[in-house]
Amino acid sequence: MKEDLVLPAQRAQGPGTDGERLLEVTGLTKHFPVKGGFPIRRTIGQVQAVDGIDLTVHTGESFGLVGESGCGKSTTGRLITRLMEPTAGTVAYRGRDISHASRKQLAPIRSEIQMIFQDPYSSLNPRQTVGTIISGPMEINGINPQGGREKRVRELLEIVGLNPEHYNRFPHEFSGGQRQRIGVARALALEPKLIVADEPVSALDVSIQAQVVNLLQQVQNDLGIAFLFIAHDLAIVRHFSQRVAVMYLGKIIEVGDRDSIYTRPRHPYTHALLSAVPEVNLTDEDTGGRERIRLAGDVPSPISPPSGCRFRTRCWKAQDKCAAEEPPLVRISGNHEGHLTACHFPEEPTTEGREEDIVLDPALAALEEAASDEGQGQP
Ligand SMILES: Nc1ncnc2c1ncn2[C@@H]1O[C@H](COP(=O)(O)OP(=O)(O)O)[C@@H](O)[C@H]1O
Ligand code: SF4
Ligand SMILES: [Mg+2]
Repeated sequence: MKEDLVLPAQRAQGPGTDGERLLEVTGLTKHFPVKGGFPIRRTIGQVQAVDGIDLTVHTGESFGLVGESGCGKSTTGRLITRLMEPTAGTVAYRGRDISHASRKQLAPIRSEIQMIFQDPYSSLNPRQTVGTIISGPMEINGINPQGGREKRVRELLEIVGLNPEHYNRFPHEFSGGQRQRIGVARALALEPKLIVADEPVSALDVSIQAQVVNLLQQVQNDLGIAFLFIAHDLAIVRHFSQRVAVMYLGKIIEVGDRDSIYTRPRHPYTHALLSAVPEVNLTDEDTGGRERIRLAGDVPSPISPPSGCRFRTRCWKAQDKCAAEEPPLVRISGNHEGHLTACHFPEEPTTEGREEDIVLDPALAALEEAASDEGQGQP
């Protein structure tokens, strides 16, 4: 990133001070109707993609949202950026409920909330030059930066580690990592306050993931942009996010500060995510308490999720109460402030030896390598 990059004046002095609640999501719910029947198609059920989640992202904060594929992460991202309207619940941005705001009502804040998509191939128009792609949002929003849009695009290209001379090139002339940098530049074009990054590196090669995550981290630190960083495992958000929420089948089942979540997870599912290795041997005393958990079975269908605790069909601690009563997301005894867990029979807080237990995917190794190898080249 360019050293002399200056914060836009509005952000430097803006009303948002650190710690301000920038985004507040309450009871957010999205159910998709399932159609069936012949000859008359009617609604025969609902996909409970997101089912009553609460989360808060503060100004300048990076918040990680993690869970297996299909648990409702992208839907959550789309509801927050208002690419979709929620079935119930509210999305408040800087204190204002935008959950059902009209296009016109959304216009003034559209530029402040941007999204980076998972697939850098399908998210860039192949027929447009990089210059057109990045200046598009400025044009749509009638933004004319000092010195003109082209100058700003060239600056943005430099900020994301691309050659400003490549202004007239087309997406196919770039690698996956470079395309995702173009996606980042496009998201930055409107000087957003919040970026929802939906698995922004999972489509990239492992070696390149680290570089793009580092870029996002620099952007977050240098420009003070808040991030909702969506990922399917805990490896990448560990590096990136100060607070982390774990989702399962449309619900948040554990949330807290990064250190608390990684070193003292209480929900069995978080334990499982943190210890994903091939062998199941929960009862073997030889493990010396270092449980290595492989989740049995598939994620149940979000059309008819299990009663009570949705994780109970895969949980090794499940008891009758788990089927009868949904566990509330609360601070349980032994947890740090802000660390909430939804479980009737939580795991003991792990206070030591956790690091070696955590076997994460190769992306983390690449990230940690890259972190100790500052100043790397671009992909
Ligand atoms: N437009 C849609 N219509 C019907 N079902 C959908 C739609 N979008 C997502 N879903 C379903 O909602 C659930 C959550 O999906 P998604 O939010 O994409 O999960 P994730 O991003 O965590 O993989 C999945 O079961 C998915 O099939
Ligand atoms: S509530 Fe019961 S089933 Fe759910 S995670 Fe806790 S112990 Fe397992
Ligand atoms: Mg997704």
